[in-house]
Amino acid sequence: MAGELPPAYDTIREKTRDADGLLTLLSDRIDATVMEGAPRLKVVSNYAVGFDNIDVKEATRHGIVVGNTPRVLTETTADFAFALLMSAARRVVEAANQTTQGKWRTWGPMILLGQDIHHATLGLVGLGRIGSEVARRARGFSMEVIYYDVTRHSEAEETELGVEYVPDLKTLLVRSDFVSVHVPLTDGTRHLIGAEEFSTMNPSAVFINTSRGAVVDQKALYEALKNRQIFTAALDVTEVEPILPDDPLLTLDNIIIAPHIASASFATRRNMALMAAENLLAGLRGEIPPDCVNPEALQR
Ligand code: DGY
Repeated sequence: MAGELPPAYDTIREKTRDADGLLTLLSDRIDATVMEGAPRLKVVSNYAVGFDNIDVKEATRHGIVVGNTPRVLTETTADFAFALLMSAARRVVEAANQTTQGKWRTWGPMILLGQDIHHATLGLVGLGRIGSEVARRARGFSMEVIYYDVTRHSEAEETELGVEYVPDLKTLLVRSDFVSVHVPLTDGTRHLIGAEEFSTMNPSAVFINTSRGAVVDQKALYEALKNRQIFTAALDVTEVEPILPDDPLLTLDNIIIAPHIASASFATRRNMALMAAENLLAGLRGEIPPDCVNPEALQR
C-alpha cells in the first residue's frame, strides 16, 4: 500500500484478504477481525519493537507468527530519550523559539532557568534494553539512577550500570528528579502514570516518555503541567498519534512533544527494515521468524 499516511482500517481489511504475509507499521491495527478475514495469513512482521498494534493472542490462535525489531533501535532510542531529558530540563526548545521569535532582549540572572541534570536522580520505570541504555548515558552525567520494574534486574545493579532497585513506583516517584518511562504498552501498563503518580512527583520533576502514549493518562499529565505539580515533560509518544490539533497539551509552555521519532536515525531505520524483511520472509517460508514474539503459534 503506497503513500506516507497509514491505510484506513477498512482498507487494511480489504487488502489483506488474500495476503500470506503482512509488513506492518505501528500505526496499522491488526486485530481479530483483520485476521479472520485473511485466511491465508501466516506472518505479520511489525516494523517496530513494540507490537501493541497487533492482537498477538489472536494471531497465535490463528497460527500466525508475529515478528518485531528489537535490539537494533535500543541505543538510538536511548539517545533520543536522553536528548528529550536534557532539552526539557534546560528548556532548549522554549529558549530557541524565543530567540527565533526575536524575544532575546538581554542576559539576565533569572531568565530561562532550568533544572540541573548532573548529580540529579533519574528514576527509570522499566529497566529493559532501552531503559538500561538510558541508565548508561545517565551515569556519564554523574546521575544517580534508580529503577522500578516488575522484574528485578540484579545483574544491572552489580555491573558498571550501578542502578538501584526500588520496590515500588511510589518510592521511585518520590525520590526522582527525572522520571523516564520504558515499558511496553500492555493491559497492565495502560495509564500506569496518572493523577496520583503526578501528584507524588516533585514540583521540580522532569517527566519523559518515549514508550507508548497510553502508558500515561494524558489528561492527568495536562493538569499536572498546568498546575505546576511537575516542572516539565517531554514526550515522543501520545495517546492518539498524531496528537489532535485541539489537544490541551499543545497550549502549554512547559512541554516538548516530538512526533514519535526516537528510533529515527538513518542507520537504525535501515536495520529495522532489514530485520522486518527477514522476519517476513521466514514467516512466508513457514518458519519461525528470527525475532518472533509468539513462536508458539507454530508449535501448537
Ligand atoms: C518501536 O519500534 O516500537 C518504536 O516505537 C518505533 O521505532
